[in-house]
Amino acid sequence: MQLQNRKIVLGVSGSIAAYKSCELLRLLVKNGADVYVALTEAASKLVAPATFEALSHHQVSTEIFDDTNHIKHIELSANADLIVIAPATAQTIAKLAHGFADNMLTATVLAAPCRTIIAPAMNQRMYQNQATQDNLEILRKRGFIILTPEDGDLACGEKGSGRMQDVDKIFNFICAILNSREGIPFAGYSQYLPSPANPLALGQTKLLPKVLGANLKVLITAGPTEEPIDPVRVITNRSSGKMGYALAEAARDMGATVTLISGPVNLNCPNGVRRINIRTCADMLNAIKDQVANADIVIGCAAVSDYRLAYVYDHKLTKNDTGDSITLTLIKNEDIISYVGHLEEKRPFTVGFAAETDHLEEHATEKLKRKNLDLIVLNDVSRQDIGFNSDLNEVSVFDKDGLVSKFTKAPKSVIARQLMELIFQNARSSKA
Ligand code: C5P
Repeated sequence: MQLQNRKIVLGVSGSIAAYKSCELLRLLVKNGADVYVALTEAASKLVAPATFEALSHHQVSTEIFDDTNHIKHIELSANADLIVIAPATAQTIAKLAHGFADNMLTATVLAAPCRTIIAPAMNQRMYQNQATQDNLEILRKRGFIILTPEDGDLACGEKGSGRMQDVDKIFNFICAILNSREGIPFAGYSQYLPSPANPLALGQTKLLPKVLGANLKVLITAGPTEEPIDPVRVITNRSSGKMGYALAEAARDMGATVTLISGPVNLNCPNGVRRINIRTCADMLNAIKDQVANADIVIGCAAVSDYRLAYVYDHKLTKNDTGDSITLTLIKNEDIISYVGHLEEKRPFTVGFAAETDHLEEHATEKLKRKNLDLIVLNDVSRQDIGFNSDLNEVSVFDKDGLVSKFTKAPKSVIARQLMELIFQNARSSKA
């Protein structure tokens, strides 16, 4: 039973391929999934809701207010591990791309914290139309997974690209995603798929824990900060932001909703992650204050400047202003992660980083206590081969009782996955 304990929302929109979703539903249920079907009105004209009700053993919904005792689109989306829209018509894709919530299916997707897979099915010209392609691109950028339609015979009698992927392939893909250790295999996901000639046998995959980050909101600070001296000069540091961004990607891949508060870095915002750009420590603190009440986990990965200028010049300083030497007075910045750690209300699970050159463990555990953190991740920045500005890292993690885990030298993306797994597990058990 590869899908035991998995809750899936199956969205069906009004393409002729809607009849195939009955077979998909049957396979999902047979493999243990608990499936709730949301039909669009057009789909309900192609296949009777009673068919889906009989196969899913649940009432099928079309309109938002079918049952006024429950806010069903919110219940459906909050509890789902995955939403699969198969078939997805050009109309439904357009609505999703633009945030419509005018029926049970679109409203459920809009409210969903979990991932959505879309299997388009339509006439080839509708599929190729720039409007549809643009809409799919919008969804792709938001982290939706699009199962590109195949070439073949179309219901309209034409041949071309627009045929929904085979039900077996969609089913295998769902199993691969829900059983993969990474939660959602994002880039290069095809490596997780069994070959079509060799589909997964029942019970062949080991059911791994539910997507660890599902329903959790993670706020991550990343990169350096800049403290202005005058309109063109700043005090900053060499943080690349790579570790914080890798954490954001890993958390997203594990199903969490992620916001990055980022200093100026040379990195693209990962798909599906919301980014708030800041420059100074004060900006970062303000962004944290705005967002923290909505976060379950805050990770302070940024290299925040400990000091700022006591006085910022409003014009560019020249040698005439400063002569042979210049004295700048610096005053202490607020410690952001310590502010989060000491919150008395709605304190999230709080994780800090310690970049140390000596007395590593002693300094890290002292910071953990002083900042009232749940976990601290220790980096040895005296080493040239890891840490600051490198693609590699090696870290140890401590809690108030001492060493929790050590992750040996590996690319930051790997360390990030290991860290996020540990953070999610600890955050969930601290809530329980
Ligand atoms: O005390 P130190 O700067 O070494 O602590 C590092 C940890 O504190 C990191 O998690 C960093 O993001 C956070 N920090 C912060 N605000 C500051 C300074 C550091 O959140 N002003």
